[in-house]
Amino acid sequence: MTDQIVITVNGKQHTVQAAPDTPLLYVLRNELGLHGPQFGCGLEQCGACMVIYGKEAKQSCKLKVADVGQTPIITLEGLMEDGQLHPVQEAFIEQEAAQCGFCTNGMIITTAALLVKYHHPSERLIREALDVNLCRCGSHLRVLRAVQRAAELMWGGQE
Ligand code: FES
Ligand code: FES
Repeated sequence: MTDQIVITVNGKQHTVQAAPDTPLLYVLRNELGLHGPQFGCGLEQCGACMVIYGKEAKQSCKLKVADVGQTPIITLEGLMEDGQLHPVQEAFIEQEAAQCGFCTNGMIITTAALLVKYHHPSERLIREALDVNLCRCGSHLRVLRAVQRAAELMWGGQE
């Protein structure tokens, strides 16, 4: 059985026809054509499917679409503004912080949420925040540098 469900994604309201327990990830990718969030494990274990949910980074692979309610969702596609890449995206490109790129959506989304909360997070805090994002290619050190660079681009150097 399907229902009409209204969700707000990247600043726009969408009405989708879906079974209430459909994972948000499936709706984003299959109904809305947003392929930034990736399907990795489907078990909230790898972070490939991250979206910004309200103000927090969250896995979308087990979040039921009917439970999203009015909480706004931002996907990788929604980070750009006025045709400009988000500073986190710029920093990841500058630092070449991806190899195969499969984990990159999750890394960028987690970082974008982190840097709104903490303008200059310590290395320990960055590592803790990104602990939910697995990278099988071992790009972690470049990711770490990219997060620090993104903090500079967003908030300037640390005083
Ligand atoms: S696909 Fe969602 S955490 Fe792995
Ligand atoms: S760059 Fe390949 S999984 Fe992270």
